[in-house]
Parts: sequence; C-alpha cells; structure tokens
Amino acid sequence: MKENSVYDCNILKLNKIHNRAGNITILEGMSNLPFDIKRLYYLYDIPAGENRGGHAHKELRQLIIAASGSFDILLDDGINKKIVALNRPDYGLLVVPGIWRELMEFSSGAICLVLASHLYDENDYIRTYEDFKAYKNGAF
Ligand code: TYD
Repeated sequence: MKENSVYDCNILKLNKIHNRAGNITILEGMSNLPFDIKRLYYLYDIPAGENRGGHAHKELRQLIIAASGSFDILLDDGINKKIVALNRPDYGLLVVPGIWRELMEFSSGAICLVLASHLYDENDYIRTYEDFKAYKNGAF
C-alpha cells in the first residue's frame, strides 16, 4: 500500500436508474465496487471554510461520493498531488490506501458519503503528514 500513487485513485461513474420521479444509484460490494462494503458514514452540516480529512490510511479503501452539493478532495502520495472535484451523486472517487487526503471547499448543505472496506480502526490511520512521509519512505 505504501507504493500506491494518486494515479491509482480514480473517479468511478456509478449507475443511475432514471425515471420522471427521480434517480436512484445502487452500490453493491464486489458487483460494482472494487471492495466489499463494511462501513458507511457521511459528513454533513460542515461549516463554511472548514476542511476535513487530513490523514492517510494503511489498509482502508474508500469510495467518496458527493451525495449532495459539492467539495474538493486533495490527494497526495508524497510525490504527486491532485485535486478532484466531486459534485454529482452518480460519480465516486476511489481512494486507495497509502494516500494523504484533505476534503475542502464544501458547498452549503454538502453531504459527503463514504463507503469503506473496513470497520473503524484508529490504528489504520496516519494522522500527521510527517508520519505519512516516514511511512512512504518505509519507516513503518
Ligand atoms: P475522522 O476520521 O478524524 O474525521 P475526518 O477525517 O472526516 O475529519 O473522524 C472524526 C471522529 O469520528 C474521530 O473522533 C473518530 C470518529 N469516527 C468513528 O468513531 N468511527 C468512524 O467510522 C469514523 C469515520 C470516525
């Protein structure tokens, strides 16, 4: 996971069943996602100007979706950085392990839906950028 790069984090176009009464998007582990879903959480009521994230994971894979509104995700593998804008509920960003991420520029009322491959485990987090650089350089 240490060797993963920002180029392994791709936007996935999700399915959308449309009819005149609205849309539905369906996510099912392993049938249309590259991992089984063990956990789902969502960020909401995010005050203007606040950022979230600011960490990396050692094993966790996530699909991040703007279920409502929009926000930007900064991805950083220690060498390359890229910023991805999410603003539609039928697109998701796959974030692989070993990537520093920051979520920013939340629109008013934005809902950030996250599907995760593992249960919550604080030991899977890398919480400081200094530790992240050390991890990428093989320190642990
Ligand atoms: P954290 O992952 O640090 O938030 P973010 O990266 O979005 O800024 O989580 C915020 C708090 O919520 C932290 O105290 C840990 C807790 N938490 C859980 O208990 N379970 C979870 O599944 C998640 C995602 C967070």
